[in-house]
Amino acid sequence: MTYSRITGTGGYLPEKVLSNHDLEKMVDTSDEWITERTGIKKRHLVSDDQTTCDLAEQAVLGAMEMAGKAADDIDLIIVATTTPDQIFPSTACLLQKRLGVHGSAAFDIQAVCTGFVYALGVADKFIRTGAARCAVVVGAETLSRIVDWTDRTTCILFGDGAGAVILEASDEPGILSTHLHADGSYESLLTVPYGISNGLDKVLEKEAFINMKGNEVFKMAVNTLGRIVDETLEHNQMEKTDVDWLIPHQANIRIIQATARKLKMSMDHVVVTVHEHGNTSAASIPLALNEAVRDGRIQRGETLMLEAFGGGFTWGSALMKY
Ligand code: ACO
Repeated sequence: MTYSRITGTGGYLPEKVLSNHDLEKMVDTSDEWITERTGIKKRHLVSDDQTTCDLAEQAVLGAMEMAGKAADDIDLIIVATTTPDQIFPSTACLLQKRLGVHGSAAFDIQAVCTGFVYALGVADKFIRTGAARCAVVVGAETLSRIVDWTDRTTCILFGDGAGAVILEASDEPGILSTHLHADGSYESLLTVPYGISNGLDKVLEKEAFINMKGNEVFKMAVNTLGRIVDETLEHNQMEKTDVDWLIPHQANIRIIQATARKLKMSMDHVVVTVHEHGNTSAASIPLALNEAVRDGRIQRGETLMLEAFGGGFTWGSALMKY
């Protein structure tokens, strides 16, 4: 049986940092409120000339180096992003050109904060079926471009960044299962309600911003993530105690703590970056994974649970042996 296995990780954060104290000067908020309600202390933001593809490229180069892979080895590129550089070509195709890869499949996936888990699920299926052997899977976002910097209920939450993995065919697991879900009926709770074929004028006037009913999204996220943890463990006939590390989407420390409680897991076994990065949407899980792999916390053979919830609503999980 063929499994897909992570052989390299990478991450990139833009240099510019915006602290809670910086935000105090921009909107009616305080470091105390943001820290208490979200856990966030700072976030990284792109400069005017940086794009999502720029961030993705840096993250992928790090992952390729760790995995010892060259451009010729890659036969699949998937970029999870809600903030692509252009209408087309896809960010994955732009990235393919930068990497010097020719002829591989390359496409974007849009599932907002669940994007990386969706991309991992799709890449895993390509590899399991023999359609690919070495995939680049990236979550990359420049969410700061769709944030209303005068809206204190959203602008304190988001940041920019990219994280990537190299996923390779292996006889050993590997990804054990992925679980992907969506329910579009909740659109009104979390949306950027304009785009190319609906409200293009708003996009051109730079008025297409994230609109979120935070409190309602919060409750849905906590309940849904609790359920998906159960679904994932049941599918694999595993117990909560079998999971070594929880690598959650980094939206809010209180949501992360609630999922850890559900797993009866000490916060020492949860990878947390939300205080440093804010919510980087599709980039948050691979950024957290990369950090814990590179600082030696996550070791080969350990069992990892990845989970995310975001706009759509979309939600998903992946269970794997690292
Ligand atoms: N500073 C100070 N006060 C604020 C701020 C702020 N930045 N923002 C809101 N408040 C006020 C509100 O106006 C409200 O005041 P009121 O009681 O006088 O009306 C009060 O604080 C409480 O507001 P709530 O919205 O109830 O605060 P809550 O504790 O729910 O925290 C938050 C808000 C952080 C947004 C939280 O609801 C949350 O994290 N939601 C989930 C986010 C999420 O997971 N999104 C999914 C992924 S994102 C994606 O897919 C793009």
